Amino acid sequence: PIPPDAVALADYERHARARLPADVWAYVGGAGADGITRAANRAAFDALRLEGRVLADMRGAHTRLRLLGMDLDHPILVAPTAFHRLLHGEGELATVLGAGAVGSAMVVSCQASVALDRIAAAAHGPLWFQLYMQPRREDTLALVRRAEDAGCRALVVTADAAINGLRNEEARAGFRLPPGVEAVNLRGFAAPASRAGPGQSPVFLGLLDAAPRWSDIAWLKGETRLPVLVKGILSPRDVEPALAAGVDGLIVSNHGGRVLDTLPASIEALPRVAAAVAGRVPVLADGGIRRGTDVLKALALGADAVLTGLPVLCGLAVGGAAGVAHVLTILRTELEVAMTLTGCPTLADIGPGVIWR
Ligand code: FNR
Repeated sequence: PIPPDAVALADYERHARARLPADVWAYVGGAGADGITRAANRAAFDALRLEGRVLADMRGAHTRLRLLGMDLDHPILVAPTAFHRLLHGEGELATVLGAGAVGSAMVVSCQASVALDRIAAAAHGPLWFQLYMQPRREDTLALVRRAEDAGCRALVVTADAAINGLRNEEARAGFRLPPGVEAVNLRGFAAPASRAGPGQSPVFLGLLDAAPRWSDIAWLKGETRLPVLVKGILSPRDVEPALAAGVDGLIVSNHGGRVLDTLPASIEALPRVAAAVAGRVPVLADGGIRRGTDVLKALALGADAVLTGLPVLCGLAVGGAAGVAHVLTILRTELEVAMTLTGCPTLADIGPGVIWR
């Protein structure tokens, strides 16, 4: 049962942390290196103040949007996160039930711990698939076809984790995947391998041979009719290469601070990326969203929609599908409160003016 004091996302995080083995928490809640970017994600949201407005006409208010041809009830998506069976016996099957119950689109991780077709069979809402480009193109294509066959509505290529970050918290805790939890959708695929000898760089020799480039995104666009989004954009200088490669959307993200430490907060990078995109494709954002006011701030600074990662995992750990649904409902309800108190009846009304300057 869901603890009665779980009323905000921070409560779910506290309960999840208390329940999970320390090494699992070090993986799930852990950041890259010193956790500076993870902290910045939060601090940057907290530093923004809202310009409250009163007595606005809120009749007919709603949070609906149309995104990449999909009609969504609200702009809060489930971010792709790996290995849900670490947190709950049903894994992604529970997550997708919870997300579907509250109309959240879910991005299934390439490293999901349940087969994609089983997740799709349990889905009530739109599913997207997050793709890590595989060392062999035939393996990447096999994943794309599986996602298409499962009815996924978009592909999200995660580009900011070409190699693993320095996951020191995880390493100190000695985290390893327990037996029975694995990336089942990648079974049989070639894994990136280093060919470095003793004393040679394991990063530059081998591991990067298979790392994707912009030309691979253009190739992927030619292989599928699904919209392709690239996740992990922070620099406005990456916008033109992305658009030239034909992407249908960008996700501003620092991977929740889990990869390269001392990257800026997503919400700091967002306005610059959005300005460079200039409305040509949808822009989504994630990283550190823990309150409806954070969602409002992201939409005000140029996001069309947002994703949430760790809070959903905490909901899953604490309450299974019901916990996931509750976490997403809290966030959506808080967004509606924030819209009301800033005088924004629809998402289109949420502009830069809601931020106090
Ligand atoms: C992630 N994230 C992630 N991203 C991705 O593209 N593929 C993946 O498999 C994973 N796996 C993953 C596992 C865990 C435990 C976490 C917490 C995160 C990153 C995720 O999609 C998203 O960018 C961040 O989680 C957003 O930040 P918040 O909402 O967690 O603060």
